[in-house]
Amino acid sequence: MPKPNDPSQFDVAANRRRFLRMLAGSASVAWAGHGSIARALEAPNRLPDPMSWAPRDLDYLIPSPKEAINVFDFETVAHKNVPPGHWGYMASGIDDEVTLRANREGFLKFQLRPRRLVDVSKIDMSVEIFGQKYNSPIFLSPVGGHRGYHPEGEIATAGGAKAGNHLQVLSTQTSTPVEDVIKARGGPVWMQLYATNKFEVARHVVQRAEKAGCTAVAVTVDRSGGRNQETLARLRRVDTRNCSDCHQPNRLGGVMYDGADMSGLQNLQSSAMTWDYLKRIRDATKMKCVIKGLLAAEDAKIAADNGYDAIIVSNHGGRSDEAGRSTIETLPEIIEAVGGRVPVFVDSGFRRGTDIVKALAMGAAGVGVGRPYIWGLGAFGQPGVEKVLELLRTELMAAMQQAGAPTLKHLVPSMVKRA
Ligand code: GLV
Repeated sequence: MPKPNDPSQFDVAANRRRFLRMLAGSASVAWAGHGSIARALEAPNRLPDPMSWAPRDLDYLIPSPKEAINVFDFETVAHKNVPPGHWGYMASGIDDEVTLRANREGFLKFQLRPRRLVDVSKIDMSVEIFGQKYNSPIFLSPVGGHRGYHPEGEIATAGGAKAGNHLQVLSTQTSTPVEDVIKARGGPVWMQLYATNKFEVARHVVQRAEKAGCTAVAVTVDRSGGRNQETLARLRRVDTRNCSDCHQPNRLGGVMYDGADMSGLQNLQSSAMTWDYLKRIRDATKMKCVIKGLLAAEDAKIAADNGYDAIIVSNHGGRSDEAGRSTIETLPEIIEAVGGRVPVFVDSGFRRGTDIVKALAMGAAGVGVGRPYIWGLGAFGQPGVEKVLELLRTELMAAMQQAGAPTLKHLVPSMVKRA
C-alpha cells in the first residue's frame, strides 16, 4: 500500500504497471493470453472528455419551431425542404470554403472574461440605430431570393423581423418588391445595393428604395469579380428540376432592377467600383450610406475620414472571397481604425449568443445573421424565422447575464480576450 501522499499513487505509468502485474497473475489472463494485456495497454484510462451523453441525431428533424433547441435545428429541416440547387446557392462558400469555416472557427480564438456581482436580473438589449429603436442589436443581413426557400419569401422574413422588432437589411436581389416588404415589416428596412458598374442602374435602385421608405443603403463593396461556388455547382447537378419552370435563371438582376436600363451589363458585380463611384452613390440619396464588406483598417479609416455613416465588417458569409480570415478576427482592427467616429456592424458566421456578445464587447454596434434565418424560413416559413431570432435573443440575453452586462453599454473590450 502506498503511504498517504506517496507521489507514486498519482503516477499513471506506475499504476498501470501495477495493474498489469495484477492482471498477469489472474486466471483470466492466463486463459486469454497476451492479447488481453495488449488491449489493456491500449485502453484509454478515462472516458472521453467531455463525455457526450446526448449525441446529436442528425436524422432527427424537429416537427415544429417550438421544438428547436438552437438555430442549427432548423438547418436540417430546411435542407430537407429546399430544392438542392437553391440549398447549394445559399450554403456555398468559395473554392475550399476556408473562409466559410474560418468564420465559425474564429469565435473559438476568443474567450469571454466575465464580471461578477453585477445585478443582471434585468437585461436591456435595446438599441437605437439611426434614430430607430430595436429590441436587440441582432439584425437580418441581406440574403437574395427568399422565395427560393419558401413561397412566402421576404414577406415571411419581414413578419419574423417585425415580431422580434429587428432591423432587416433587404437584398437588392430580393424576390419581393421593397414596397411590399416594408409594408410587411411595418416599418423601414435598409436596402443593400449591388451597384453594378453602371451608375444609372445603381441610382435607379437607390432612388426607388428611398421612395419606398428605406432609411439606409448598404452598398456591398466585396463583389468585385467572379467566384467559384463549388457546393452550388455540385448540388445543381443533382437538381433535376427545370429552373425556368419557376424563375428566369438567366435574367440579370431581380425585381429591384425592374425599369432600369441594364444594357451593357453582363453581371451585377462592381468590378470598377472606387471611392469616387461610391461617393456618387452617396450623393444620389438622402438615405444613410453604409459600406458593407470592408475588411482592412486602411479602408475603414478612409470611410470614417470621408464621413460615411456606418461600416459593416462582412466577408459576405464566406461567399465572396477565400481570404480565410474570420470577421470576428477582423473586427478589432476596424474598430480601432475608426476610433468611434462611425458605428461598426459585423456579420458572417454568427450562430450563438456568445458569438454575438464577443463582437458587441469588442465594440460592434450590431450583429447580422444571414443563413440562420433562411434555415428558419426554409423549415417553417415565418414561424421558423421568428423562432430563430427568438433563440438568438434568448442566447444573447443569457450571454449578457453571464458576462455581467445588464445593458449593451456594459459590454466592454476587457470582457473578451484572444485565447
Ligand atoms: C448574395 O449576396 C450572394 O452572395 O449570392
